[in-house]
Amino acid sequence: MAFTETIIRPPKRNVAEKTATKLGRIGWDFSDANASRRSIHAFHSYPARFIPEIPRTVIRELSPPRSTLVFDPFCGCGTTLVEAQQAGYASVGIDLNPIGCLISRIKTTPLPPDFVDAANHCIADARECGPLPLPDIPNLLHWFRADVCESLAALRVTIRNVGDSATRQVLEAVLSSIIVRVSNQDSDTRYAAVTKDVSGETVFDAFAESAQTLAALTVTLPTLLEAPATIINQNVFDVQPSDIPGDVGLVVTSPPYPNAYEYWLYHKYRMWWLGYDPLAVKSREIGARAHFFSGRRREKEDFHVQMAGVFKLLAEVMREGAHCCFVMGDSKIYGQIVDNATPLLKAAAQHGFKLVFKSDRGINPHRKSFNLHHARIKREHVLVWER
Ligand SMILES: C[S@@+](CC[C@H](N)C(=O)[O-])C[C@H]1O[C@@H](n2cnc3c(N)ncnc32)[C@H](O)[C@@H]1O
Repeated sequence: MAFTETIIRPPKRNVAEKTATKLGRIGWDFSDANASRRSIHAFHSYPARFIPEIPRTVIRELSPPRSTLVFDPFCGCGTTLVEAQQAGYASVGIDLNPIGCLISRIKTTPLPPDFVDAANHCIADARECGPLPLPDIPNLLHWFRADVCESLAALRVTIRNVGDSATRQVLEAVLSSIIVRVSNQDSDTRYAAVTKDVSGETVFDAFAESAQTLAALTVTLPTLLEAPATIINQNVFDVQPSDIPGDVGLVVTSPPYPNAYEYWLYHKYRMWWLGYDPLAVKSREIGARAHFFSGRRREKEDFHVQMAGVFKLLAEVMREGAHCCFVMGDSKIYGQIVDNATPLLKAAAQHGFKLVFKSDRGINPHRKSFNLHHARIKREHVLVWER
């Protein structure tokens, strides 16, 4: 009798399972990540920014079609946009914070070749300016010495007089990068006034040094031109699908969440000095602590509604089958740990997104925030959906 062999084929794995397997092989802690001080990511501090390895890995592993955009609806200082650009993708980012948007633009646009000379001219003109009226900034002389204020006020005027808008924008970002250093604020992560060894001259030295440092950071010019980034400085809830300049093939983001980081506070004096209104930013910022200490206790419900608004926008701009990756921690509110993944999962499901991967990652213990004791930031969730 002839022997018939029956081949039992394993059931075909669907795309979602393959994606989950691929993402499951990644060591999401990236514990050996070593931030390069020479990379453009190093320009300007920003709280709770991504380590570049996160968007880099997600873009590489999920490799969306080349013709589509990489989108970060909370782009902060532009880490996802820079990584998208390095991988050859055009991108789009939204952020409410004008300082985040300013830094994102500087990192993703070719720098004017003569901006270091322009910085030095501004310093020379500011030295000649003589005393100017100080800007009307609350508690100014608590946070800045009078001679530091005079130099900052003079630099601010000379920068405003720079004719070329691209150069002016870079010089504003350079000025922003030195504000905390020349203030009485202890450090970028500690919001307390201390006596520091700074003077009016320190402002000019720090400004010149920061411009030089920016000029020395490495970017590959052709990628900037071939893979442009669009940066939208708006409340995410005011952005219309028509504002997104194309089909989105991948979303990589880390949203703000209740009672954790306060982006407006972190950049408050930077915004005052550059002529923005930090209080307007505070009133619209998702998760700002003030909202949780004003007698309202609707943080979970509010967060769910806010994230549902974000997923509504994503559903409208993402291609079918495209992926969306959110990285975020939990909150500690009134001493209770609040699980932020649950409202996020609910919001995504409501708009037809299918969860394909869920994991946790440990956060480097050296990463700091203003309000470390309010937040639970030892671990974060990594969640990936398919549209
Ligand atoms: C976790 S940070 C993003 C950091 C970013 N991944 C990076 O690498 O720089 C969250 C961002 O959400 C922004 N944000 C808060 N509320 C917002 C709103 N209503 N609309 C748009 N952006 C908002 C904050 O300004 C902050 O930059």
